[in-house]
Amino acid sequence: MDVAPLTVFHWWFVFCTLPGLQMTEIENIYVTIGSDVNIKCPNAKVNTWQYFESKKLLCDLLWNGQNSINPNLTASDRLNVTSDCQLLIQNFTTTDICTYFCYEKKNDSKGYKLHVQLRNLTIDGTDHFGVIQSTEGTNLTLRCIVTGFLLGDKTYWTTNNKLLVSGKTRSLNHTLTAHRSYNMNEFTCTTENSKETQPLIAHVRLNLILKPSVFITVSVNSGVRKKGMDVFVRQGKDIELQCREKDNESKNGVIFRWLYNGNMFQNNTNVIILNKIKPETSGLYTCNASNKAGRDSDTVNIIVTYFPLVQTEDITFNGMNRPRTLNCNVSGEPNTYILIWRHYTYNNQLIRMFNKSTSGMLILPEGEADDLVFEDSGFYICNVTNGIPDDCGKLWQSGKIKVMVEGSSFEQANGRMNMGFPLDIFIVFRLLIKHYFMGSHWMYLVIDVFIKFKTQEKKTFKTTLLS
Ligand SMILES: *[C@@H]1O[C@H](CO)[C@@H](O)[C@H](O)[C@H]1NC(C)=O
Ligand SMILES: *[C@@H]1O[C@H](CO)[C@@H](O)[C@H](O)[C@H]1NC(C)=O
Ligand SMILES: *[C@@H]1O[C@H](CO)[C@@H](O)[C@H](O)[C@H]1NC(C)=O
Ligand SMILES: *[C@@H]1O[C@H](CO)[C@@H](O)[C@H](O)[C@H]1NC(C)=O
Ligand SMILES: *[C@@H]1O[C@H](CO)[C@@H](O)[C@H](O)[C@H]1NC(C)=O
Ligand SMILES: *[C@@H]1O[C@H](CO)[C@@H](O)[C@H](O)[C@H]1NC(C)=O
Ligand SMILES: *[C@@H]1O[C@H](CO)[C@@H](O)[C@H](O)[C@H]1NC(C)=O
Ligand SMILES: *[C@@H]1O[C@H](CO)[C@@H](O)[C@H](O)[C@H]1NC(C)=O
Ligand SMILES: *[C@@H]1O[C@H](CO)[C@@H](O)[C@H](O)[C@H]1NC(C)=O
Ligand SMILES: *[C@@H]1O[C@H](CO)[C@@H](O)[C@H](O)[C@H]1NC(C)=O
Ligand SMILES: *[C@@H]1O[C@H](CO)[C@@H](O)[C@H](O)[C@H]1NC(C)=O
Ligand SMILES: *[C@@H]1O[C@H](CO)[C@@H](O)[C@H](O)[C@H]1NC(C)=O
Repeated sequence: MDVAPLTVFHWWFVFCTLPGLQMTEIENIYVTIGSDVNIKCPNAKVNTWQYFESKKLLCDLLWNGQNSINPNLTASDRLNVTSDCQLLIQNFTTTDICTYFCYEKKNDSKGYKLHVQLRNLTIDGTDHFGVIQSTEGTNLTLRCIVTGFLLGDKTYWTTNNKLLVSGKTRSLNHTLTAHRSYNMNEFTCTTENSKETQPLIAHVRLNLILKPSVFITVSVNSGVRKKGMDVFVRQGKDIELQCREKDNESKNGVIFRWLYNGNMFQNNTNVIILNKIKPETSGLYTCNASNKAGRDSDTVNIIVTYFPLVQTEDITFNGMNRPRTLNCNVSGEPNTYILIWRHYTYNNQLIRMFNKSTSGMLILPEGEADDLVFEDSGFYICNVTNGIPDDCGKLWQSGKIKVMVEGSSFEQANGRMNMGFPLDIFIVFRLLIKHYFMGSHWMYLVIDVFIKFKTQEKKTFKTTLLS
């Protein structure tokens, strides 16, 4: 049988059967990889070192010989023991991390468990993934703690290679206001010591609950419209309003609320669907988004567009009333229109066309004050559009007004006279119909005839009684 296992067994046996041994004291010792470690047993009277778990003997000063290290250990060449029985470990490695046990081999001696661990740096509040959760806008303290602090340790916080704070204390705080730009940023804590070859480094990543930042998109019959404040949509379409987060991260725990013209409309959804919209659907739709970090809102103005409806009434002008105005009552959305008026004879001959206008009111040009302007009579067609075609695709809608001028006995004549000749000749002649002798003087009934072909606004007939 091999001797080594026997020996180990022997010492294990001795250790376990030591009658008065009390393992009361436990101490933590922090070391750095690569450093030379000097472990002193708290009890000055000590002669034996052992690995606690495996019970392997490290040294026994009762052994003969100067170097009392057990030569059979893998780490023997890096181990040494001083004359006063301090254990020395050179070039510390992870394999040296364990619990060491020292005691004096005699009755009633005290044994000491020494946990030798790596010096390290911890950041308060981090999870398994090295992340700290917080909320945008809150004040947050990043706290870095040196376990196994040594005199001469210098600790500092950095981010993106920028120094934030430094200190020579066991723990170092860096307080910041969690700005949204810090989300997912990494902050690093470093501890250096001139005696140590390797600095201690710890990282933390901030995971912030961001204040919502939302915008509304409007989809019309499934096609997405670019969002502006005003969104024009044809009557009868289906629309979908979607409240989107700029940082579309569902983790932000956003609660959505919709308002229609400032009144509660719908809750707990970021989408609203409106089918077959009507003019009454028009209005301001606001999405309010909130979470524990704050709130945000966006508003769109939905304007349901429809072609103009034209209402008219026939009108009879009293001979002298001025001005003579015609009305095409138009209602449509958008409510900006282009109107073109045309004047026709009763038998549909075009007499004149007026300049384009934007209002439904037409003021007929005035003649002289005493001019009855019978030729204003006829049909007026107002032709109007707001850019929205009707259901048949017609862009122009029209209204028709029959205009009569009171006292006009020449309606039919008017019809005949305005024949739409291409010439622009002005003919004036006077017919002497009859003359009477009224006692002292003559009365003449005359008819002045003015004819203007392709007439615009000149008087045509004028009946006068001259004395
Ligand atoms: C180390 O091993 C050698 C040979 O295997 C043995 O002679 C010696 O006693 C051992 N030493 C100790 C301290 O166990
Ligand atoms: C152990 O220490 C002694 C003196 O304390 C020294 O002579 C010896 O060389 C050291 N051994 C090793 C392996 O460092
Ligand atoms: C310490 O050990 C490492 C490997 O464990 C080795 O690379 C290094 O050279 C050693 N340093 C010294 C000073 O012995
Ligand atoms: C040590 O303990 C043993 C057994 O209990 C006892 O016989 C012996 O006298 C003790 N020795 C001393 C020095 O106390
Ligand atoms: C650092 O030390 C603490 C305290 O000993 C320990 O709880 C932690 O696990 C260690 N962390 C690392 C990364 O070694
Ligand atoms: C955060 O700290 C600053 C001063 O450092 C203070 O002005 C601010 O009110 C604090 N904010 C909160 C939310 O506590
Ligand atoms: C560091 O922050 C902690 C809370 O995270 C606080 O308890 C401690 O007092 C702070 N230390 C210093 C030096 O400000
Ligand atoms: C964010 O939204 C865009 C567009 O909707 C999408 O392409 C992208 O995958 C989303 N990102 C995440 C992280 O959800
Ligand atoms: C939405 O929630 C608010 C507040 O929780 C409540 O006052 C309102 O009645 C709700 N509206 C609807 C449409 O559910
Ligand atoms: C909606 O958000 C605005 C500001 O973003 C806020 O003033 C208003 O109180 C919010 N309304 C509701 C019902 O949450
Ligand atoms: C046009 O509308 C006005 C006011 O809305 C009304 O007074 C008028 O009677 C209407 N005219 C026609 C022709 O409908
Ligand atoms: C209305 O005007 C447009 C353009 O001037 C024309 O194409 C259309 O025929 C007109 N419609 C009527 C009914 O006059």
